[in-house]
Amino acid sequence: MKRRIEIIRSPHAGYCFGVKRAMRLIGQGSGSPDGIVYTLGDVIHNPPEVARLRAKGVRPVSSLDEMPAGATLVLRAHGVHPDLVRDAERRGIRIVDATCPFVQRSQQFVRKFQDESRRAIIIGDRGHPEVRSIAGHAGADVIIMKTIEEAETLEPLERAGIVIQTTFSRPEAERIIQVLERTIGDARVHDTICQATEARRDATLELARRVDLMLVVGGRNSSNTNGLYQLCVAVGVLTKFVETADEIDPAWFKGVRRIGLTTGTSTPDWIIDEVTAKLDDVACDRTEE
Ligand code: F3S
Repeated sequence: MKRRIEIIRSPHAGYCFGVKRAMRLIGQGSGSPDGIVYTLGDVIHNPPEVARLRAKGVRPVSSLDEMPAGATLVLRAHGVHPDLVRDAERRGIRIVDATCPFVQRSQQFVRKFQDESRRAIIIGDRGHPEVRSIAGHAGADVIIMKTIEEAETLEPLERAGIVIQTTFSRPEAERIIQVLERTIGDARVHDTICQATEARRDATLELARRVDLMLVVGGRNSSNTNGLYQLCVAVGVLTKFVETADEIDPAWFKGVRRIGLTTGTSTPDWIIDEVTAKLDDVACDRTEE
C-alpha cells in the first residue's frame, strides 16, 4: 500500500513570461529555409530542454562564424551586446529578438543615462549574460557591482543612473542603493527587478516553511533555480535539487508527510509533468494550489 504524502506545487512553477515568449519565437523561427534555428549559447539554462530542442533543429553555437549567411539567429531572453546584432546583420543573418521585454527596458534605461550624462551603474553579476547585454548598451564607462563592499569603494559621482539585474535579490539591492546614494550627488534609480521572479521566490519561501521536504526542479546551470534552492536551504527545510525525474530517490521521502515542488523560470512543463508522475509513483494525494 502507498504511503500518503501530500505534494504541493508552487503556483509559480514552470516558464516565466520571458522564457515562454522566447520559446514561442523559437517555434516561429523554425520556419527558416534550412530548418535550423541558431542560438548563441544555450537558449535557456535547462540542459534536458536544450537537448530536446537540438533534436528539433535548434543549434547552439558559440560565435557568428559558425552560422552561414541567411541563417536565423534567435537572441535569448537575456539579450545580447548590440555590437553582436550589428555584426550579425552585416553578415546577412536574420535576427529573431527574444530578449525579454523586462531586459529590453533595462537596456533602454541605460541608453537614456548616456543622453542625460549620467554614469550607468548596474547592480548585478558581471558574468551573467543579462548584465553583459545591458552593459553593452550602457557605454564604455559602465560600473557593475553586486556587493555592499563594492558600493562602499565607489568614488563620489556627480550624476549616475542605476538599474538592477532582473533576478537580483531585492533586500540586497536596496542595501547597495542606500550606500550608493551617499556618494552620488544626483542618482536616478530604476527598479528593474522582475516581479515574476520575486513572486516565485516569495511563493517558494512560503511553501518551504510548511512542508517537510522541498523539491527544486531546474537546470543546474540556472542561477535563478540555484537561488530558489539556497532560499529553501536557508529556511532549514530538507531540500533536494533535481534536473529530471530520474534523479528522484524514493529514499528521500522516509518520514516525509508533505513535499513542496518549485521550479526555476526555465523549467519546461514536460519535466514538471514527469517529476509529478514520479512523485505520484512514490506518494499520492497531490494538491494543486
Ligand atoms: Fe523576463 Fe523575468 Fe523571466 S526578466 S526572462 S520574465 S525572469
